[in-house]
Amino acid sequence: MCGIVGYLGKKQAAPILLGGLEKLEYRGYDSAGIAVLADSSLEIAKTVGKLQVLKDKLVDNLPAGYMGIGHTRWATHGKPSDTNAHPHTGCSDAFVVVHNGIIENYQKLKEWLINKGHTFKSETDTEVLPHLIEHHYKGDLAAAVQDMVRLLEGSYALAIMSTKEPDKIVAVRKDSPLVVGLGQEEYFLASDIPAILNHTRETYILEDGEMAVLTADGVTVYNSLGEKIVKEIFHVQWDIQAAERGGYPHFMLKEIFEQPRAIKDTTSGRINDAGIVDLGLQMTPTEIAKFEKIAVVACGTASYAGMVGKYVMEKMLRIPVEVDIASEFRYRDPLVDEKTLVLVISQSGETADTLAALREAKARKAKVVAITNVVGSSVSREADEVIYTWAGPEIAVASTKAYITQLVAIYLLSMHLAQAKGMISQHEAEELALAIKKLPELADEVLGQAANIELWAKSIAKWEDAFFIGRGIDFAVGLEGALKLKEISYIHAEAYAAGELKHGTLALIVDNIPVIALATQEALFDKMVSNIKEVKARGANVTAVAFAGNEEIQASVDQVIYLPKTLPILAPVLTVIPLQLLAYYAAVARGSDVDKPRNLAKSVTVE
Ligand code: G6P
Repeated sequence: MCGIVGYLGKKQAAPILLGGLEKLEYRGYDSAGIAVLADSSLEIAKTVGKLQVLKDKLVDNLPAGYMGIGHTRWATHGKPSDTNAHPHTGCSDAFVVVHNGIIENYQKLKEWLINKGHTFKSETDTEVLPHLIEHHYKGDLAAAVQDMVRLLEGSYALAIMSTKEPDKIVAVRKDSPLVVGLGQEEYFLASDIPAILNHTRETYILEDGEMAVLTADGVTVYNSLGEKIVKEIFHVQWDIQAAERGGYPHFMLKEIFEQPRAIKDTTSGRINDAGIVDLGLQMTPTEIAKFEKIAVVACGTASYAGMVGKYVMEKMLRIPVEVDIASEFRYRDPLVDEKTLVLVISQSGETADTLAALREAKARKAKVVAITNVVGSSVSREADEVIYTWAGPEIAVASTKAYITQLVAIYLLSMHLAQAKGMISQHEAEELALAIKKLPELADEVLGQAANIELWAKSIAKWEDAFFIGRGIDFAVGLEGALKLKEISYIHAEAYAAGELKHGTLALIVDNIPVIALATQEALFDKMVSNIKEVKARGANVTAVAFAGNEEIQASVDQVIYLPKTLPILAPVLTVIPLQLLAYYAAVARGSDVDKPRNLAKSVTVE
């Protein structure tokens, strides 16, 4: 996730571009850059670090000119660096591009361009774009862009300028947002409305495949066939603060709703319909075969993603998987050696205990694979291998989209390891691939139930205790559900393996106390129903989360949240969504500071 901006008008472009990027920093902040065009002379300024670093660099020498494009980056392909920062040019400076999204087939395109004599400077997927335009340019920038986008797989929002046509900015999108701002003799481009709201409230919201050409005479919009179309103007009514959150009242809710997109990005280009997984890992099948166990090490939500991973990996790989809290692992004289695969999971990649555990594992010669959301983070630099979750920056302290993409990364890794060990049939791989690709759509369906979940959450908000019960992989998700509720609503919540209830917890069940029963696993369904009866008999108010098709559960509980059907092993990706929404709406009902809960921090870089 990155942020792009553009300006064309009668004012100096650079200050407007920097002002717009400031509003988009929530979309990425590991590097930033701008390009300003003045009478065929192009000036580019870009640097690694937060936007402030770029601003400091430009304080006395802002590029002059009345049109330009800008970018704030959240690295996916290539570490944060001056060279990898956008804007990017081709072999010459004739074409300059900023990009938000992922070009999935960039490797193939890059090889093809190198064979044609192009030379590349960066490690990014984006750089293929200016080179492709160079290749296709025959005197018409918009036509060259149209020719280029036909070759692209993946997602993109692009803003493009050329010294050969220094009177226009061309913008196009697919699966990444892009907005055109319509001012008085000035026009704007941005990934998101806040970046232009100081200048205008009149916008065109571009749809997939649409291309906008901005000139001093106005904005022309074309469809994917290159035909001119008439766009309806969208008048923005929100205030600037709400706009930064995309109209959502809190970042957490925005991030919950971003999950279908985050899942899609994390699988993007990594799994094909034949079930072949490509995570870019270097481990050979021989190395993989020698692992006798897997140790997952993480903190907080990431450790609960690891708990789901235990069930998934043990089932698919038939080797023991231990899950450890990093602060325990590092001081426990852990039993890991060169026959252990240590899987470190961390959204930020900077958690002190996780990093120390990683170092401990390496010192004991274990192979360390990291799952992290931050390219270039300490964890990503120190691990032997890295799988990035492409969730984009997570702002709310309570992790949501990072967790869900950690699960997705675990599924992909498990498939990769199972393939290397010959433990998954072609049929199983294809079935899983198909089901994983469907998850974004199913997650969207679950989000469609938000209004009902809000009502349910309001009833639970009155309580000081709540219990989550489940068996198998459902229990693992229950742990995350309970954590979410505790973190932001401050309701005391506990997750129990349902079979363990009778060994103590039942003593806590009183009349009407909320119990959330996760019952997605067909093989354990009858057992779960028995456990539900145990708590019902003691007066609990039970909400079940189950797959559609299991309507018989309705008779045993007070209410049910139905999930669209997927493979049982993938259920956690869907099951967690109502639990996140429950925590969110309960916290709102109790008046807590949802995005910044008391006593907690997003990134814990001290022990
Ligand atoms: C903090 C955050 C949690 C997060 C945990 C681990 O406690 O509040 O949301 O799960 O750290 O962070 P990491 O960045 O390593 O995933």
